[in-house]
Amino acid sequence: MITQTTTSPDAEPAQRTPLVVRTRSELRDAQMRWAIAGPLEPGGPDAAPGQRAVVMTMGALHDGHLELVRRAREEAGPNGQVVVTIFVNPLQFGAGEDLETYPRDLDGDVAKLAGVGADVVFAPTPDVVYPDGDPVVRVSAGRIGEVLEGEHRPGHLDGVLTVVLKLMHLVRPDVALFGEKDAQQLLAVRRMVRDLEVSVEVVGVPTVREADGLALSSRNAYLSAGERERALALSRALAAGAAAADRGAAGVTNAARQVLDEAEGVVVDYLALVDPVTVDAVADDFSGSALLLVAARVGSTRLIDNQAVEVSPDQR
Ligand code: PAF
Repeated sequence: MITQTTTSPDAEPAQRTPLVVRTRSELRDAQMRWAIAGPLEPGGPDAAPGQRAVVMTMGALHDGHLELVRRAREEAGPNGQVVVTIFVNPLQFGAGEDLETYPRDLDGDVAKLAGVGADVVFAPTPDVVYPDGDPVVRVSAGRIGEVLEGEHRPGHLDGVLTVVLKLMHLVRPDVALFGEKDAQQLLAVRRMVRDLEVSVEVVGVPTVREADGLALSSRNAYLSAGERERALALSRALAAGAAAADRGAAGVTNAARQVLDEAEGVVVDYLALVDPVTVDAVADDFSGSALLLVAARVGSTRLIDNQAVEVSPDQR
């Protein structure tokens, strides 16, 4: 069944309520309809056809996701098509993680997407994505999937890449947009696209933060007021690290580590300054572009955050 749009199909793209499709054939119909009806859209019959842009999500949408969709609209152009996928992918959850309790509210998510530029929401069930059950052949993130997140969530990035590649095949986008907050995921997706010759442009979109610095995340909803306050240690640590950029790589990590050591109720999984392409930890005498990554548990909620740092040699 295709849930019909509540606004006219020739409304400005940014005003539209997206069409919700649940199956592969509904998605194909929506793509065909776009291919045929595209020239009727605001760019006019002679305008360039535009691109298809995808934003992949697990739902529980927040302003960070909406920013991705706005950027996708820009990438797609007025005659393009913006597809948002909403799918809680079982493959990327480990034993004891929050697969069962992960917030699911399709109607609420679709309402949030009204007016931000999404044309289609593809919200499949697991049997649509994995019609033969758990896939036998999967994508491996290789070395990238074994460090940092991989040490704490074995197999997580393999599960992410497997579903991302499947969704790319199903949606057939020209451009795929991912948030920079999940930095290791973004690096792994870029690497998969390059290593496996997937003809999709990957665009990273800067992290959206609350006014006090907390990076937006669907898992912030799990935090009590006290935990939310304690969670600010992550962004504070990253800011302290970035402020120490002229003290060399060791100075950056030491400054960030000090903030985390002093924070109460924050259990650090890792803090690492890494090469932004390989995710390898940089040497103490490194200078250049690096990524400072942190993962920590606040109560039972696991949070991640990161910050780009331009490290210069310690002059002191
Ligand atoms: O970042 C996420 O929400 C997920 O890992 C993704 C990319 C949608 C794959 O399930």
